[in-house]
Amino acid sequence: AQTEAPPAAQLTIVYGSQTGNAKRLAEGLAQQAQDAGVPVRLLRADAYATRELKQERYLYLVVSTQGDGDPPDDARGLVEFIAGKRAPPLKQLKYAVLGLGDSSYPQFCAVGNRLDQRLAELGATRLFERGEADLDIDAVAAPWLQRALDAARDAWKAAPPLATVTPLRVAGAEPAATRERPFAAELLANQRIALGDKDIRHIELSLGDSGLRYEPGDALGVWPRNSATLVDAILALLALDGDAEISHAGLSLPLRDWLGEKRELTRLARPFVAAHAQRSGDADLQALLAAENAAAFGRWREGRQVIDLLRQYRAGWSGDALVEALRPLTPRLYSIASSQKAVGDEAHLTVAHVEYASGDGDPRWGVASHLLATSGEGASLPVYIERNERFRLPADDSRDAIMIGPGTGVAPFRGFVQERAAIGAGGRHWLFFGNPHFRRDFLYQLEWQRAFKAGQLQRLDLAFSRDTAAKIYVQHRLRERGRELYDWLEGGAHLYVCGAIAMGKDVHAALRDIVAAHSGRSDEDAEDYLDGLQRQGRYARDVY
Ligand code: 2AM
Repeated sequence: AQTEAPPAAQLTIVYGSQTGNAKRLAEGLAQQAQDAGVPVRLLRADAYATRELKQERYLYLVVSTQGDGDPPDDARGLVEFIAGKRAPPLKQLKYAVLGLGDSSYPQFCAVGNRLDQRLAELGATRLFERGEADLDIDAVAAPWLQRALDAARDAWKAAPPLATVTPLRVAGAEPAATRERPFAAELLANQRIALGDKDIRHIELSLGDSGLRYEPGDALGVWPRNSATLVDAILALLALDGDAEISHAGLSLPLRDWLGEKRELTRLARPFVAAHAQRSGDADLQALLAAENAAAFGRWREGRQVIDLLRQYRAGWSGDALVEALRPLTPRLYSIASSQKAVGDEAHLTVAHVEYASGDGDPRWGVASHLLATSGEGASLPVYIERNERFRLPADDSRDAIMIGPGTGVAPFRGFVQERAAIGAGGRHWLFFGNPHFRRDFLYQLEWQRAFKAGQLQRLDLAFSRDTAAKIYVQHRLRERGRELYDWLEGGAHLYVCGAIAMGKDVHAALRDIVAAHSGRSDEDAEDYLDGLQRQGRYARDVY
């Protein structure tokens, strides 16, 4: 009789995640695989020992791509190892890759794609096509995960049932509220804290008796809804009846509610543009969608929302078709700007109200920031906690912390300083903050001054970019303080960066130059030094 090849000892699922989506999917898959009797281990990419790769038999990779085609911080090492010259031949390996990304960026799912191709190059066997999930993650992820589960089930069918099954979930620790079952948080305060061109809000929410707990560094997920004005404008433009009941994917709601609560209207996804182009038959729009016009398409989409597309190119839609073609609305994550040791059952946010004018001069808003900025006291907002284990204060509270957070990137550091003050930590704190104008947008100025006086903040360096003829950014301040900064690092300080992606890159370059200049290392060795810090959990970035 034919003997079946013995299955691999276990299924390894590795995720690389910046905002938690890849992690959530990988955890779900691990749980289901385990429930199906597959011996499984689940690892964050930076916990995966790359030397094990050459023995690995069965591997699923779930990894996101950041803005410019970069891996999430936790997957940098693994991606570099697999892509690099030291990667071993992997003939023994069966694998599949699920990439996550945002098709607004030209490097959509680049990391997943690179890994998928490279593993094949190294001789590994691709079990099935990679998935490339866009912001409406589940459209691609759900079928991929099903395939992954089926493949694992097949592979382990012959395996004897496991004697003991270790639960991956911590028993009894079912979270109080989740992404799918959020908590209705009451808005306690909404204050404008910048007087410049940008409307920046300090928001306080009550977590009440939800039982929700967070650590400084965690994010609050907020389920947004579209403004009624925007929904009405779209209904009017398409001459659709908002009260018409629409059934889709097992849910029946009036069209008005589908558009308000369940569909993305403020981001324009490529597949929707393609569907609209087909309906309108407009040659210009179709040309814009051609592969060779990707850059032009990107520029065209800048600042355009669904309604702008519907206005510029006319085409008819039925309510059913519209609901089917638009992407599901997804929650937005905001770094929490408080510590529960200081604010109890509240969560504070620092929110930049995204607002701009459309081509026609009409106001356009970001869906969640507009909802938050325009909600008054007593309003109720569906929220949950998104953990960010990679962005944590040092476990040893005598360690120094260097915090770089221009603009709303300062949010988590308000939480850090609150927490450190509450526990009477021995370590020192150094904050780099920047914004356009000192007078108008020095966020939390009084609080920093108070913390400074109280000895809870030892150093504060400011970069106001539009107060002087030449722009001064946080990285200029870093360079000016290079010597001391390097001394802090040598003394064991932890380094944190939060804010815009471009800033994060420029800051990284400044840090490399500082390390090189003050340690006598080459640029390459200075990079290795920063890599080392990252691996030790002493250089964490939260960039968006
Ligand atoms: P700017 O808008 O005057 O150019 C918060 O947004 C602050 O970050 C602002 O002062 C902004 O300056 C600044 N900023 C913009 N791009 C940056 C970059 N690449 N690095 C650091 N700071 C940046």
